[in-house]
Amino acid sequence: PHVLVLNGPNLGRLGVREPDVYGSLSLADLASSVDEWTAGTALTAEVRQTDDEAELVGWLHEAVDARADVVLNPAAFTHYSYALRDAAAMVTKGGLRLIEVHISNPYAREEFRHLSVIGPIATGTIAGFGFDSYRLALAALTGPAS
Ligand code: DQA
Repeated sequence: PHVLVLNGPNLGRLGVREPDVYGSLSLADLASSVDEWTAGTALTAEVRQTDDEAELVGWLHEAVDARADVVLNPAAFTHYSYALRDAAAMVTKGGLRLIEVHISNPYAREEFRHLSVIGPIATGTIAGFGFDSYRLALAALTGPAS
């Protein structure tokens, strides 16, 4: 199975952006880790990032059409994008899995990060484990949908 690993705004700046919160590794490092984690599994994964809400919505439409599961770090869109939520709902209501991931633990941060509009329509959420949040999400997708 093919998995789209989609990342929202400012995540292209990983490594230079608030390293105290997000660590010192870059998005390219994340992509290499994803390659390592999926090597020898039944999964193939593709890591993408955009700062653009419309592009991210389009990628979710693509996941539905291609019947691909999704690992999604919606970044700040997590907290307010109903457009992204509606697109993500098409993925899960279409019988595909969508795992919401966060590098940091939003519940341990500012109040505005405590609400996720994506969480209620996600298959599940993994947050607070650094890049390992993505590894755990991919591990969850390695088995068949239950
Ligand atoms: C984030 C958490 C969000 O609150 C924030 O806006 C991000 C990154 C994370 O991975 O921890 O951009 O999604």
